[in-house]
Order: sequence, then C-alpha cells, then structure tokens
Amino acid sequence: MVPKLSVQSLSLLLFSVGMALNMTAKQDLRCIMYFTGQHPVAPSIDQLQHVTHVAIAFMSPGFFNEPGRTDWPLFTTVTDVRSKFPKGTKVQVAIGGWGDTAGFSAAALNDTTRRTFAENVASMVAATGADGIDVDWEYPGGNGEDYKQVPNSAKAWEIDAYPLLLGELRGALGPNKIISAAVPGLQRDMLAFTRLTVPRIMRHVDYLNVMTYDLMNRRDTVTKHHTGVALSLEAVDAYISAGAAPQKLNLGFAFYIKYFKTVHDECALASPIGCPTLQLEDPATGKDLGRSGGFSWHDPIPDEVAESFTKAVNFGVYDEDQGGYYYWDAAEDLWWTFDTPDAIKRKFPAILGQRRLGGVFAWGLGEDAPLFKHFITLSNEFEGRLHERKDEL
Ligand SMILES: *[C@@H]1O[C@H](CO)[C@@H](O)[C@H](O)[C@H]1NC(C)=O
Ligand SMILES: *[C@@H]1O[C@H](CO)[C@@H](O)[C@H](O)[C@H]1NC(C)=O
Repeated sequence: MVPKLSVQSLSLLLFSVGMALNMTAKQDLRCIMYFTGQHPVAPSIDQLQHVTHVAIAFMSPGFFNEPGRTDWPLFTTVTDVRSKFPKGTKVQVAIGGWGDTAGFSAAALNDTTRRTFAENVASMVAATGADGIDVDWEYPGGNGEDYKQVPNSAKAWEIDAYPLLLGELRGALGPNKIISAAVPGLQRDMLAFTRLTVPRIMRHVDYLNVMTYDLMNRRDTVTKHHTGVALSLEAVDAYISAGAAPQKLNLGFAFYIKYFKTVHDECALASPIGCPTLQLEDPATGKDLGRSGGFSWHDPIPDEVAESFTKAVNFGVYDEDQGGYYYWDAAEDLWWTFDTPDAIKRKFPAILGQRRLGGVFAWGLGEDAPLFKHFITLSNEFEGRLHERKDEL
C-alpha cells in the first residue's frame, strides 16, 4: 500500500525536514570561548554572533566538597558575562583548571563525596543562572601539575571514579543543563580516557573540549608544534577510537604563543623540527627551569624574548608536513610555535572537515584582545564550516 499524501502535507513534510536539518546544522556545530579571569575582555557584541557558548574560567572544585555551601565567588558573574554576548549564547561555569585538582580528587572518592559535590554544583548553577558547567580536571588519573609529588599510581583509582562523578553531576543537574569536560590532548595524559572509560564518560557529557594545544610543553625534550595539525589529529583520533562520536568533540585553539630553548648544534645541523631542547624542567621536582615560556596575544611581550619574537612573526614559516607555524631563532636558540590566522584557517579542512567534528573552542577570548585577529579568523572559518556542514547533511 502506498500511503496517500496530499501536495500540502508533502510540502509540509519537506519543510519540516528542512527545518530539522537547518536546526541540526546550527545546533550541532559549537563555537565555544573560554572567558578567563586573566583576560576578562570581549570584542563588541556584533563580532560575537557565531559564538554559541562561553565558559567562564575558573571556579575551584574545592568549593563543592562540603555540604550546604551557598556562596560562589568568581571574578565576574554569569549575568555580567551574559550581557556581553548575543542573546541565546549559552553560559557555562568552568570548574578546575591546571593545578587545581585536589577538590576533584576529594569529590570523586566515594558515593557520598560524589553526591555532595554534585548537589553543590547544582546549587551553584541554580544560584548563578548558568546554563551548565565545564569540568576541567587536569587530569583524572594523574600527570597534573603535582605529578612529581604524587605519583600516578596513587591516582589510578580516579580513572574509574571519574565517569561516576560525571554521572552524579548529570543526575543532580538533570538532562537540560550542559555538562562538558576539557580533556587532555596528549596521549601520555589520557590516563582516564580508554576504550573502557570513554563510552561511560560520553553517556553523561554533552561534548568534550579536546585541548589540542600545549602539545609541546616543558615535559618534552624535542621541538614540536604546540597546537599543530598532525598532533591535533592524533588527539581527536584517540578519543574517536576509544568510542567518542566525532560530533561530540570540539577542537581546541590557542590564542597564545610558546617558546622553548634548544640545543644549538643539533638543531642547526638537522631540521629544527623535532630537534632537542635543553632540559626544561627539574626532573626531580617538575619545577620550571626558566628555559621555556608563553604569553597571550593580549600580554606584553617579555623583554628578554621581544627581539626574537619579532623575528618569529616576520620570518616564521608553515610546516606543511606536520602542520604548524614555527620559527627557529638560531642566534637565540629559541623554538617558537603558535597559530597565525593562516594556521587557524588550515585546521578547518584538515581537522574539522576531515573528521567532521562537532565544534571548536578557544583558550581564550580575551587572550586575543585587543585586535581579536585570531578570534575573527576562527569565527569566519566557523561560519564557512556551518555552510559546508549544511551541504554535507
Ligand atoms: C534553511 O536555511 C536556509 C538558509 O539559511 C533557508 O534559506 C531555508 O529557508 C531554511 N529552511 C527551512 C525549512 O527553514
Ligand atoms: C567517603 O569518604 C569520606 C571522606 O574521606 C568519609 O568521611 C566517608 O566515611 C566515606 N563514605 C563512604 C560511604 O565510604
């Protein structure tokens, strides 16, 4: 039997399908900006039309460990941040950040501590009027700032407890609040992100912000692109093969610059890509030895590297093989790695398009002030991707 369809109902059906596809395309691509306490500035509201979510960073996880808390100090308010963005932009509170993990460990410990934490987070979300949270535990299972003080073996239990904590948060916040998690970009840090845990994690979160930056840091011993294409692909592919849908992954962009001291002869003789650095941190304590650094586009350029940075901006090149803009200063023995607007553009076909990821995010919006050159490039490319995406559907 062929069902009878009138012309009207057929066109209504087509219209509905069209609407549904349009809405899918819009809703499913996310453009998320971290709004940070270090650089709490935004461009004018008309430049923010493509931003879908803002994550205010950070609130400390330690706030949520004792039952019944009612004050939620933050460098700004959800209401104030909301007023800086177009109507409808989702506002999340990001909890945690680099080095602030003790409150997460205390929260994850057992059923009771997980419930207390989740209930407090739900109270905070209700009190602040946020649309949800971003869980920024760096990292469950270890390799955090304290990795030389607390061995990863002492944190192995967190691997199993992390999805349980996210589940408790989902239970307390309900299905309509956003729960996302910022997750490591280097495989060596993905201790809690395996084929066993990723499916459990994905059940509770709306999406993951894969931190595809700082992929070279002071724990490395050779030069790499800190937010390069090949390393970013490795990161997202690790989550995909562990069971995350590409649509639930956001690619991270860094609005800051990094530099590292290198060994002269070896870098001069061969390629400066993948050549040895000086020892960058104290192997016993993990302390910074002052041979690497970073600064955002909004920061003053440190005097001691200012001249070298000018050369990096003027004479740097793009590595077509690994994907990344870099400069090696042979006079100062400095490896520079950062995204130019052109490097940002290349990531859209090379990563977003290739893997059909669900969105982008940047650390952070104010880090690109006052010119917002990188943000504007990201926003324009995002718009392009929205159109492409519609054609793909
Ligand atoms: C979908 O979006 C396009 C362009 O944004 C618009 O022209 C079209 O009318 C929309 N379709 C529906 C069914 O809303
Ligand atoms: C959970 O851990 C807390 C903090 O160590 C402890 O006081 C409490 O007794 C534990 N509860 C359960 C059910 O194990």
